[in-house]
Amino acid sequence: MSTTATAPSSVQTLEAQHILQVYRRTPVVFDRGEGSYLITTEGKRCLDFISGVGVVSLGHANPALAAAIADQSRTLLHTSNLFFHPLQAEVATRLGELTGLDRAFFCNSGTEAVEACLKFARRYWHSKGETSRTKYIAFSHAFHGRTMGSLSVTWDDHYRAPFAPLIPNVVFVDTNDPAALAAAVDGNTAAIIVEPIQGEGGVRPISSDMAAAIEGACASSGALLIADEVQSGSGRTGAFLYSQTLGLTPDLVALGKALGAGVPVGVAMFTNEVASAAAPGDHGSTYGGNLLACRAALVFLDALASSDLQASMASAAARLGKGFCAMMGRVPAIREVRGKGLMIGIDLTFDATPVVAAAFERGLLINRTSSTVVRLLPPYTIIDADVDAALPLLEDAIVAAGRDSK
Ligand SMILES: Cc1ncc(COP(=O)(O)O)c(C=O)c1O
Repeated sequence: MSTTATAPSSVQTLEAQHILQVYRRTPVVFDRGEGSYLITTEGKRCLDFISGVGVVSLGHANPALAAAIADQSRTLLHTSNLFFHPLQAEVATRLGELTGLDRAFFCNSGTEAVEACLKFARRYWHSKGETSRTKYIAFSHAFHGRTMGSLSVTWDDHYRAPFAPLIPNVVFVDTNDPAALAAAVDGNTAAIIVEPIQGEGGVRPISSDMAAAIEGACASSGALLIADEVQSGSGRTGAFLYSQTLGLTPDLVALGKALGAGVPVGVAMFTNEVASAAAPGDHGSTYGGNLLACRAALVFLDALASSDLQASMASAAARLGKGFCAMMGRVPAIREVRGKGLMIGIDLTFDATPVVAAAFERGLLINRTSSTVVRLLPPYTIIDADVDAALPLLEDAIVAAGRDSK
């Protein structure tokens, strides 16, 4: 049953009084979703090409997910990590097969997955007696989350400065300077952390030169590699991890977003070598990997394994790519289209903020990242018809916003 329709203005008034003001929300209330569409309280249908920032991978109100969640809630939702339950090891086994890593730690968000990776990179060196190996190397434009550890390896000073001092011993390297990475890595480096495609930083894939430099730096210094695949992973680009496409061999991987299809799920994956340092009490989470979260992840992993979904994702991605090629010929304000599969950034010659509003007016949900970039993270379940509906709305929005920006 849908919730009571609430006028946006009354929701906004209550929010202004009672909610910590850390978000700039579009003044709209959605209370229903159907597949690729979100529906406002006033009945406006919007084609959702941002999917709750890359989360709603199976579309809204997915029947298989809804049935599994209902079934799980009638059976058992949560027991904590004080006890065994039947689903955590099953999800971990499946993720092991997909990532090539051996062990999983379950949490509830991307930032927590990154925190676990940062902690266990240091834990590993501590267990080896190399207690001076505490340095992390991160990249310009990196975004890894907003808790203190992941914020410390996030690049943008706008997020960092108000919360200083952050954790020490983090060195940032220019994403396009492989030589700078080689110079920064040394025998005190615990880990290099990288988003194989930077998401918040403007949908920027790491170059093959930088990928090779990362592998080389890890090999020569012994530093561990953490791949933050919270946004680029879980199949969004076609491969389960974009690291696999780049030839990176991470020791630790952070996952989140699409993996729970809307239910909060975060996972840190480790090689056996790194995981061997862990001891009871080193880390934990009350909710992490509870039955509800694992059940949702299993529904997602089942769906992702289906050849039908893989084929329709590939078809939608190819259709989008073709559409953007044609659009670039018509719209000079498009500087570049970046990304892979269903993670796409359209870099414009002007600030993308008004494009988001213009697209919403036309019934398309997208967002802006890194000032001039329009980002698309549609559900994996989009079909060719959704792509055909979205492309003209987006082009129209870019053209209209570009006109207004002059
Ligand atoms: C690459 C990356 N890492 C970490 C995070 C943090 O995830 P969460 O917001 O679920 O904590 C994000 C969120 O956008 C992300 O894109």
